[in-house]
Amino acid sequence: MIFRVFEHEEELASFAADHLIETIRSNPNGLMCLATGSTPLLTYQLFVSRLREQRVDYSNFHFIGLDEWVGIPDSNPGGCHYFLQEHVLKPLVVKNKNYHLFNGLAADLRTECLTMDEQIRKWNGIDMMVVGIGMNGHIGFNEPHSNPDQHAYLADLTETTRQVGQKYFVEKTELSKGLTLGLKHFFESRQVLMLANGSHKADIIRRTISDPISMEIPATQIRRHQNAYLLLDTEAAAQLNDDHH
Ligand code: GLP
Repeated sequence: MIFRVFEHEEELASFAADHLIETIRSNPNGLMCLATGSTPLLTYQLFVSRLREQRVDYSNFHFIGLDEWVGIPDSNPGGCHYFLQEHVLKPLVVKNKNYHLFNGLAADLRTECLTMDEQIRKWNGIDMMVVGIGMNGHIGFNEPHSNPDQHAYLADLTETTRQVGQKYFVEKTELSKGLTLGLKHFFESRQVLMLANGSHKADIIRRTISDPISMEIPATQIRRHQNAYLLLDTEAAAQLNDDHH
């Protein structure tokens, strides 16, 4: 794992956006997995605008969503589906056949996970996975003490995730389960970008870098990935010392 600290969030987002564009240039038929949340917003804005400005051909490129809250319809602005539509898929006018997102209202959630796994296989595996980090160190909805040896699955959400997740919703919302890509997908992904910004992430970033690698803090698993970047702004890196650097 390589980690880099940027002075401001804007520089982090700029680096990440260029990296995503490079992924498409080097494999125009490839597959990118996108996280949602506050962290990657600016990265996605720059990614979308630069991809268009630079006239990169993404007409055969594919996108999938990392996770989704169970019980949340596509029309709910707090959901992951809505976020990716609004910030990436609609602005880029990505064709339906070129993306696949979890349906949080699926009648059969097990089949929903198998369908996602199947889609990833069909698109020859994930070239680039963009992930954030939860306040408890989760990746997607891979919560502390979950099984890292899984592809997509239905996850029970921890109390922290249920509470922190309220920030995305206008009204108090029941959040108890999530659909998520598993850490098997994370390790199989040919490249990973993990992004963190803001002082509220400083403590979990210190633990991600200095705690033993274990499922107590799932994000520590990034240190085992062969081709991963951890990109931080100075606020998120505030509790790291020279030893870490
Ligand atoms: C959420 C999502 C993750 C996201 C993470 C961080 O619960 N399931 O995909 O990366 O937590 O979110 P944020 O960027 O808003 O801090």
